[in-house]
Amino acid sequence: DETRMKKGILHHLSTIFEQAVALAFPDIVDILVPVAPSSRPQFGDYQCNAAMPISNALKNRGIKIDPMNVASKILEYLKTDNVVEKVDVVAPGFLNIWVSKAICKERIFDLILNGIQPPPLDKVKTVVVDFSSPNIAKEMHVGHLRSTIIGDSICRLLEFMGHDVLRINHVGDWGTQFGMLIAHLKEKFPDYLTKSPPIHDLQSFYKESKSRFDSDSDFKSKAYACVIKLQNLDPEYMKAWNLICDVSRKEFQKIYNRLDIVIEERGESFYQRHMVELVRDLETRGFLEYDEGRKVMFGLEADAIPLTIVKSDGGFTYDTSDLAAIQYRIQQDHATWIIYVTDAGQATHFKVIQSCAEKAGILNRSLVKVVHVGFGVVLGEDKKKFKTRSGETVKLQHLLDEGLRRAEEKLKEKNRHTVLTQEELDSAKEAIAYGCIKYADLSHNRINDYVFSFDAMLEDKGNTAVYLLYAYTRIRSIVRNAGIDIKQLNKVAECGDLTISHDREWKLIKVLVRFTDTILKVVESLSLHHLCEYVYEIATTFSEFYDVCYCIEKNEAGEIVKIDMGRMLLCEATARTIEKCLNILGIRTVTRM
Ligand code: ARG
Repeated sequence: DETRMKKGILHHLSTIFEQAVALAFPDIVDILVPVAPSSRPQFGDYQCNAAMPISNALKNRGIKIDPMNVASKILEYLKTDNVVEKVDVVAPGFLNIWVSKAICKERIFDLILNGIQPPPLDKVKTVVVDFSSPNIAKEMHVGHLRSTIIGDSICRLLEFMGHDVLRINHVGDWGTQFGMLIAHLKEKFPDYLTKSPPIHDLQSFYKESKSRFDSDSDFKSKAYACVIKLQNLDPEYMKAWNLICDVSRKEFQKIYNRLDIVIEERGESFYQRHMVELVRDLETRGFLEYDEGRKVMFGLEADAIPLTIVKSDGGFTYDTSDLAAIQYRIQQDHATWIIYVTDAGQATHFKVIQSCAEKAGILNRSLVKVVHVGFGVVLGEDKKKFKTRSGETVKLQHLLDEGLRRAEEKLKEKNRHTVLTQEELDSAKEAIAYGCIKYADLSHNRINDYVFSFDAMLEDKGNTAVYLLYAYTRIRSIVRNAGIDIKQLNKVAECGDLTISHDREWKLIKVLVRFTDTILKVVESLSLHHLCEYVYEIATTFSEFYDVCYCIEKNEAGEIVKIDMGRMLLCEATARTIEKCLNILGIRTVTRM
């Protein structure tokens, strides 16, 4: 049972019901056999709703069997085991499943004794997660924030699974904008080679050079000359380029530090040498076509738009660097899974990249999985593109500062500053602010646009980080205040000393044992909102449990007279599961807030 159950109860039930359907109705292929937790306890713990669609499929072939009989036949072929306690067929054809309490309890004991374990891994993969990836000298905007938050969480998830994860920042550091930036730098700070130029505000520096580039044709040709020098790796220009990159880099790093993001920079420039070789190779193999002075490459779908591999001035593009990057990741990093996290608008770009990589023999789809994880636009509360009141793009530093200010306000509103130390207050403030921003993003289906609202994300009721963080600290404090230590709980788990005397205990246990199934679903979809829904369900189910199931009894003097150790164990299991989920979501927990 151990190995069978390691992938989760739902997984196990789905497997045995699929097998039963295959045996009972061998002609019916490709029909889904949905098994899901029941909506109500009287319908069992889980339900299988395969009978109706199967009956329909049979009817389409002229075979008439009503859903009740289909369900009975499935049940006849079901290979039950000690996980399944009982299955009922009920009208109009539902299969209601009751699972073994003993088996579920075993899983809770395992969680206590061995900590939260990831589902077993069939094969360790080397995964490149390409995320965040802002552009040098331009601001890092809310779109990059989304990529940063989602990408980091995906990395945490896959690291938890046991994969080898390479967290890659594909920064835009090699485009034509560097021509004008360098040309501007050379004129404004002629002694830049010996003295570091005092560029504090790279954005206005960018704007200055951009307006000169657009209005001054002399400057424009200088800028072009600079790009060529740079792409030929001329040391003087490299130095200028590096100075500019460093200014941005420091700004980006401040954001990463605040949000606990670990990422390795490997920008477009990293692939310069590889781009030269790749282009030569593609050219000799006849993959490049001329198009108005450009060299382009079509993918396997000849009607799709081609990649621009070499521009008419000889320079490389975003396309070139991505094609070189996918080659590098497969051949040098030995990646077997590549994940790009960008706005949904770039989906086509990555499709064409994959298609060209396949055509050129770089990508073999049976060996390497390539996924584009797209996401929607961030909107303001007016449902329009997220902007400041004066219509400018929001600076991320300011956004995070605003979050801290609001979180602090919130804590003061609740009078927390009178009970917490300054240190506790500060960590609570950060956990709330950054936690809220991340959770608001992750809890929405990433594919949709989402409305950024501090008011909504700082609500302490409903599916928000504030609610979860409070729930978590409260549960932790139950065990702490009872003076229980982990050795005592281990004892309870070792003896298997847990009686289920209330249906809310059972409901909580069932939610907790769904952890593995949930994790696998998130790995499959790379949609973090499933995990958010799950952790929210744990918190609400716990609160239903705690409302009616006394864990500690106190006398009138407030002294503890009785502790229910089984329930203490459930508190601990709940806290650990919530903590693990929040940890995967990149959200810091605090012990007091
Ligand atoms: N720098 C790009 C942007 O800001 C994102 C890069 C994404 N990664 C990639 N390999 N193309 O839109």
